[in-house]
Amino acid sequence: MNSEHRGSITRRQFVTSSATVLAASSLARNAQATTNFFAQHEAARRGPFRVIIDTDPGVDDALALLLAMRSPELKIEAITPVAGNVPLELTLPNALRMVEIAGRTDIPVAAGARAPLVRRLVTAAYAHGENGLGGAVFPEPKTKPAKEPAAELIRQIVRKFPGEVTLLTIGPLTNIATALSTDPELAGMVRALVMMGGSLSGGNITPAAEFNIYVDPEAARVVFQSGIPITMVGLDVTRKTSLTEEHLRQLQGAQNPVSQAAATIARNAIEHNRERGFIVGPNMHDSLAVAGFIDPSLLKLKEYYVDVETTGELTAGETLGYSPNAGDLRRRPEMAKDPAATNMSIRGSAPTLASTRTSPVVRDRFVPNANVAVDVDSIRFFDLLISRLSGKL
Ligand code: BDR
Ligand code: CA
Repeated sequence: MNSEHRGSITRRQFVTSSATVLAASSLARNAQATTNFFAQHEAARRGPFRVIIDTDPGVDDALALLLAMRSPELKIEAITPVAGNVPLELTLPNALRMVEIAGRTDIPVAAGARAPLVRRLVTAAYAHGENGLGGAVFPEPKTKPAKEPAAELIRQIVRKFPGEVTLLTIGPLTNIATALSTDPELAGMVRALVMMGGSLSGGNITPAAEFNIYVDPEAARVVFQSGIPITMVGLDVTRKTSLTEEHLRQLQGAQNPVSQAAATIARNAIEHNRERGFIVGPNMHDSLAVAGFIDPSLLKLKEYYVDVETTGELTAGETLGYSPNAGDLRRRPEMAKDPAATNMSIRGSAPTLASTRTSPVVRDRFVPNANVAVDVDSIRFFDLLISRLSGKL
């Protein structure tokens, strides 16, 4: 792995600066972070809100980008493609194609990381086709990428508008982690981060891990521990967003360039899925994250402390959600005020005999770092998605 792959940070710098990011921002902000979620969601209804979309197009990324560019609630400051579903050589031109189709070449598109922070790239061409768009073919883009690399552009924009920019991330988190690691004050200037990623109910690339987190678990860990208020829109809800033939017919019926492009991608994705015998999908994972930011009432959220497995041989990329109010540790309602109920300790694996660590406790107190989407109004989500893509605002 050379340093170019990491947007110019070495492994040592990554480890050192990640620790700095965690220390500088996590401790300072964790206490207040999650209390602001609902205020932010309330505000998100009004907009327009400055956002940067970090993406790896990708069939569902492409539709999410078109949705975002058709949504007046969003002021898109930049689009930052990263390697993920397919290599950067494809995600970058695919993102440029989408801005051209939407007539939004005013939005800078900056090339991101070619590979995860410390791992080899694993792609998902099996789901997105070799070209990342399910085989749907569009002309070569004429628009050129921004001159800055993605992580640098993210840094510049967040610093230009401190406290205003929300990061909408719908791919592996390499670009974001690189930006946070190279500028330890940055996390404290980000308004919020809404991600498609993770799962508290099993994965889609391994039984444990969701694809975006699996591809770059180390980056995801930096993000979850950054102190940025996070909304995690994971497989728990995006599994409920299967695109149907009826959605496709509605897109085909609308006569505008965005709906026609969306229909072409959707048709190819449905056929690709069918040929490979998949029973569910294609799911509109990434559009749901964007839609959930535009209209937070589409999602039901629950506070968790989320951490990422980075060392498991079989489970790397798994997201673990700790909550005193979930799973087998739930207490009876009359015990809710008991300190033991709220101050659950966060436990990792039992220490090995060889390790210097003596306790499994990694945090002695429950402090949520993410609001996790646990349910979705799928019908209203598709109403929003299809109407925006069809040109009915
Ligand atoms: C996520 O992985 C990618 O394949 C999709 O684009 C989405 O971002 C779903 O697990
Ligand atoms: Ca994606």
